[in-house]
Amino acid sequence: MSSASVASIAVEGGDLSLGEGLLAIIRPALDLMEPGGVIAVLSCSRQTEEDLSTWCRIERHEFLGCEEISEGKFRHLIRRGSLSVPKGERETALNLPLRDGMLTAADVLAAVPMPERADPATGFAPRGARAEPGGPSFPYTLTERDTVAPPQIAELYDQAVGAQWDATRDIAWDKIRPLPAALETALGQMMTFLAENELSALYLPSKFISQIHPAYAEVAMFLATQLADEARHIDVFLKRARVKGGLGISSATSSRSLLSLLVLTDFTEAAFLLSVLGEGTFLDLLKFIERHAPDEPTFDLARRARADETRHVHFGLAHVRHALAHDDSLYSRLESSVRRRAATLHNVGGVPSAIQDALTILAARGSDPPSVRRGHESFRELLHTMHENRVKRLESAGFTREQAETLSRLHTPNFM
Ligand SMILES: [Fe+2]
Ligand SMILES: [Fe+2]
Repeated sequence: MSSASVASIAVEGGDLSLGEGLLAIIRPALDLMEPGGVIAVLSCSRQTEEDLSTWCRIERHEFLGCEEISEGKFRHLIRRGSLSVPKGERETALNLPLRDGMLTAADVLAAVPMPERADPATGFAPRGARAEPGGPSFPYTLTERDTVAPPQIAELYDQAVGAQWDATRDIAWDKIRPLPAALETALGQMMTFLAENELSALYLPSKFISQIHPAYAEVAMFLATQLADEARHIDVFLKRARVKGGLGISSATSSRSLLSLLVLTDFTEAAFLLSVLGEGTFLDLLKFIERHAPDEPTFDLARRARADETRHVHFGLAHVRHALAHDDSLYSRLESSVRRRAATLHNVGGVPSAIQDALTILAARGSDPPSVRRGHESFRELLHTMHENRVKRLESAGFTREQAETLSRLHTPNFM
C-alpha cells in the first residue's frame, strides 16, 4: 500500500463502524479533496477495512489499503474518485450585513451574485450549492441572467414582502353604505372589470415561474409576491361589488383582449404587454377610481391596489429596460408583438361600452344630465392621461418619442 505521507487529511473514526455513522466523518473530508486526493481514516476497528473497501467500490473511490499503526489502531487510505461531487469550497458563512437586526434579499444577492448563464442540469440546487453531476436536465427556458433578472430584482422583492396587506381586515368594510342605484351599478361594473383583468394578471406571470432557472430565484420569488398581490386585488374588488349591489357584465372585448395576453409565450413580451403597457395603464385607472370613489373603503382599496401595481410596473420597466440594453433585436420584437396583438383586436371599436358608462357615472357621482356631462368629460380626460403616461413609460423603457406614440395608440382599448 501507499505510504501514509500521501494522505493530505486524516480523520479520526474511533471505534465507529460504517453502520454507526463513520461515513458522516469520511464523506465531508473526501469532499474537500480534488479527485485523486487521498485521505487517511484512523480507526480502532479491524472490520472497518472490509466495509470501507466495499463502500469505495460502490461510490467509485479507490481503497488503497489498511495498516496497523499501533496496537489495535488502523490507518485506512482512500483516494477520491473522479465521478463524485466536484470539489468546491463549501459555501462558508458570508458575514451578511445586518441592519437593525434585519437581513434583506438584496444583501444576500450582493453576497451571492447571479451567474450570467445557468445550467439546467443543476435542477433546484439553490445558487451557491454544489450540484452532484449526473442529475437530470430540467425544462427551464429562462437560463440567462440578462433576459430574466433585472439588477433591482431583490430590492423589488424586499419591498413587495414588506408591503403586503390583508383584504379581510385592512379595509373598513363596515363603512360602506347603500349608494344611489345608478352609482351602485356603475361601481359593481367597475369592480367586475377590475377583477376580470386582475385574473389575467394572476394567470399570465404564473405561466413563467416554472421556466425560470433557480439561479435567478429572486425573479420567481418576486413574481410570487405579484401573484399574491393580484389574488388580494381580485378578492377586494369582488368583495366591494358584493357588499351592496353585485357584479356587472364581462364584455367580449375584455375577453378578446385578455386572451391575447394569456397566450403569450415569451417572458419579456409578457412583461412588456402586461406590466409596462397594461398595468401601467391601470395605474391611471385606479387613480381615477380613487379620485371619484363614493366612499372611504373604495378609495382605500383602489389606493392600496395602485401601490401594489406600481411595483409590478417597476418590475416590467426594469425587466424591459435591462433586456433592451442586452439585445438589439428586442425593440422590433416588442413592437411587432404590440402590432400583432392590435391586429387580433382590429374589430374592437373602443373601450367596452359598459366600462365607458360606469366610469362616466362614477365620475358624475350620479345620473343627472349636468353631472353626467362632467363625468363624461372626466372619462375623456382619463383616456388622454392614460395615453400621455404610457408614452412617458415607453420612453423611459428606451423607445423613441415617435415609437412610444405609435405603440401607445396601438395599445388595447381594454386598458389591460
Ligand atoms: Fe393587480
Ligand atoms: Fe398587477
